[in-house]
Amino acid sequence: MEDKLNVGIIGVGNISPAYINGSRAFDILNLVACADMNIPRAQQVAAENNLIAYSVDDLLADPDIDIVINLTVPLAHAAVSQLIIGAGKHVYSEKPLAVELDDARRILDAAEAKGVRVGCAPDTFLFSQHQTALKLLEEGAIGAPVAAFGAMAGRGPESWHPNADFFYKVGGGPMLDMGPYYVTCLLNLLGAAKRVTGSARSSFPERVAKDGHRIDVEVPTHVTGTIEFESGAIATLVMSFDVMAHSMPQMEVYGEYGTLRIPDPNGYKPREVMLFNGEWRVMPETYRSEWVRGIGLADMAYGILYGRPHRASGQLAYHALEVMHAFATASRTGQHVDIQSTIERPALLPVGLAARVLDR
Ligand SMILES: NC(=O)c1ccc[n+]([C@@H]2O[C@H](COP(=O)([O-])OP(=O)(O)OC[C@H]3O[C@@H](n4cnc5c(N)ncnc54)[C@H](O)[C@@H]3O)[C@@H](O)[C@H]2O)c1
Repeated sequence: MEDKLNVGIIGVGNISPAYINGSRAFDILNLVACADMNIPRAQQVAAENNLIAYSVDDLLADPDIDIVINLTVPLAHAAVSQLIIGAGKHVYSEKPLAVELDDARRILDAAEAKGVRVGCAPDTFLFSQHQTALKLLEEGAIGAPVAAFGAMAGRGPESWHPNADFFYKVGGGPMLDMGPYYVTCLLNLLGAAKRVTGSARSSFPERVAKDGHRIDVEVPTHVTGTIEFESGAIATLVMSFDVMAHSMPQMEVYGEYGTLRIPDPNGYKPREVMLFNGEWRVMPETYRSEWVRGIGLADMAYGILYGRPHRASGQLAYHALEVMHAFATASRTGQHVDIQSTIERPALLPVGLAARVLDR
């Protein structure tokens, strides 16, 4: 059996270097080609990284490519993922899986009909610290989780992102853009969500992009609320592009006997997992040096080759998307929103995926 899968990328914008480098961190991934609607950009990225520059059609027609990473903007995710699936290839999409829930469902249905896999970012819940936190929870370090808290609050991505318009259009906003990290992290730790309530507002009608042009805001930019899990635990979430500064923790889980403080699931730098059970302690990490984007894609590739489920799955992303949409729906209707989909909590990673020794 082959021990590598060939990978192509559609959409080589701002986040693509993270995937190009991430793919190269895992022996099972052989990144070979890229495409973009902006053809000169695809050619430039291909030249810089020793890849084949294709048109989207030619990349999809290449029979040697097994998995295509969809790094287009959120509003294009559904259509591009459908093209990838239609070509009989496995798709690994950036988040969100789709903007609309119906489109996300159609992606999962189409993939099932074609017999291909759907994977979806974020995969930060597979990073070392988050897996260490899950292991501590499973070992009963804080007893049964009672509640949790997650927050991402800042003054918006236009200060650093070169093409920030999409953050303020349908498909953007802090919940669909940043919520996936926090919601997926919570689902990984606490299991399936049961219902959601929330309040949301757009505090400022327009934003100023880096180059000075004005962006009309079309989505809520301050979204708060609670997720009630099937386990009974309740998480409070704050997702905001409207806050200048704050001192909220980024992620904490409160249990019967203690508290876990967990690093930011959108963070890149290794930070500590802290446990309180009488006093605060820094917990040793079970999983070392696995803080690399692409781990979810590598896990999917192993799943394909060795016939086992993968963790950053389409089902998990769909459940997260349903939860994220429920905040705005609850805000609009003034009612709790019951979550229709469910998930099995992803299994703990075996130690050493980054050492390329996953459970083969
Ligand atoms: N930038 C980040 O730091 C970051 C971090 C994590 C996740 N993401 C996610 O990654 C995705 C891409 O973000 P980005 O910041 O790289 O955006 P970007 O605008 O910088 O890049 C998107 C690229 O996709 C191409 N594209 C758009 N539609 C296409 C289509 N239909 N066919 C082919 N190419 C198409 C564009 O030409 C562009 O080169 C988004 O879903 C975003 O949420 C971004």
